[in-house]
Amino acid sequence: MSFLDQIEPVKQAALASFKTAQDLGSLDHAKGAFLGPNGQLTALLKQLGGLPKEEKPAAGKAINLAKVELESGLAERRAELELKAALPSEPTDFTLPGRRRSLGKLHPLTQVTEDIVRSFRKIGFAVADGPEVEDEYHCFDALNTPADHPARDTQDTFYVGTPEDARPTPGSRPSQLLLRTHTSSVQIRVMEKQPPPVRIIVPGRVYRRDNADATHNPTFQQVEGLYVDRGVTAGDLKGTVEFVFKELMGSDVRIRFRPHYFSYTEPSFEIDFTSSLVKKMGKDWLEIAGCGMVHPKVFETVGYDPEVWTGWAFGFGIERIAMIRYGIHDIRLFYENDVRFLKQF
Ligand code: DAH
Repeated sequence: MSFLDQIEPVKQAALASFKTAQDLGSLDHAKGAFLGPNGQLTALLKQLGGLPKEEKPAAGKAINLAKVELESGLAERRAELELKAALPSEPTDFTLPGRRRSLGKLHPLTQVTEDIVRSFRKIGFAVADGPEVEDEYHCFDALNTPADHPARDTQDTFYVGTPEDARPTPGSRPSQLLLRTHTSSVQIRVMEKQPPPVRIIVPGRVYRRDNADATHNPTFQQVEGLYVDRGVTAGDLKGTVEFVFKELMGSDVRIRFRPHYFSYTEPSFEIDFTSSLVKKMGKDWLEIAGCGMVHPKVFETVGYDPEVWTGWAFGFGIERIAMIRYGIHDIRLFYENDVRFLKQF
């Protein structure tokens, strides 16, 4: 057989073996058998040198053409096999429903906070905000809390920074930075900035050096309220608190005021409340908030004339309300971020 006649059968055999390869491994194998160092087409190429001079150009051309054809046949089959490898081995049922991504939800404390804000908005309160890293002046001094008050103890308050970070304040002593222990500091910040009347609530995070247990957590949330105008009375306070708690906890809510002491209010009260939800928890009354008529000294500190303006303030814990509302017995659950817990609200 002439040299030229040998090329065609090798080419056909190669193309056939590429076509019948069922996976990439056997395709590589087939490639080696024809184009590898010991492959059949390579063997023909090697014979080229020994051909008579006049046959060489035609033979070279034919063999190169065959090689190009093999390479394109190889590439084509490789693409097919790669696609096949990428497809699922099981047939796909395109009529099955898709995978749903589960929807996130607001944290229960956020939901309760939004409800509280919504209720106060109905009666004309605006939301105010203040820093969580506060100074002693706004957290204590301006609220008429004396320097030796136990709340100012490092046992109870997280102080931050060093005495060198202390800020100059209207008081004589520089004011150390701390994590606010209550939202009452924002009362001062708001009154410093605007003249009366004031009608605000302040939801926010506060910090205390408590060990975590079922009813305490070193960080928790409060809502502060402040109302300053001419002729504001404790009756307005009671009516407002009752309205909001009924909105939050149902119309069977009852509240009572007990005399108490806060340095920034005079008189001061603690608010207890009861409802069918409270009874369900096996309790009669639950202490829920502190409040009172704003102390004249606080007004003087922010430059309000206490002979002209009167006001009241209150502060309560948001967790407490969420716990009663949802029947939760351990405050730590709010902060563990266990999705199984959070999904229920
Ligand atoms: N700041 C108090 C606390 O954290 C709560 C409070 C009591 C806020 C009386 C007030 C108030 O505005 O008038 O326990």
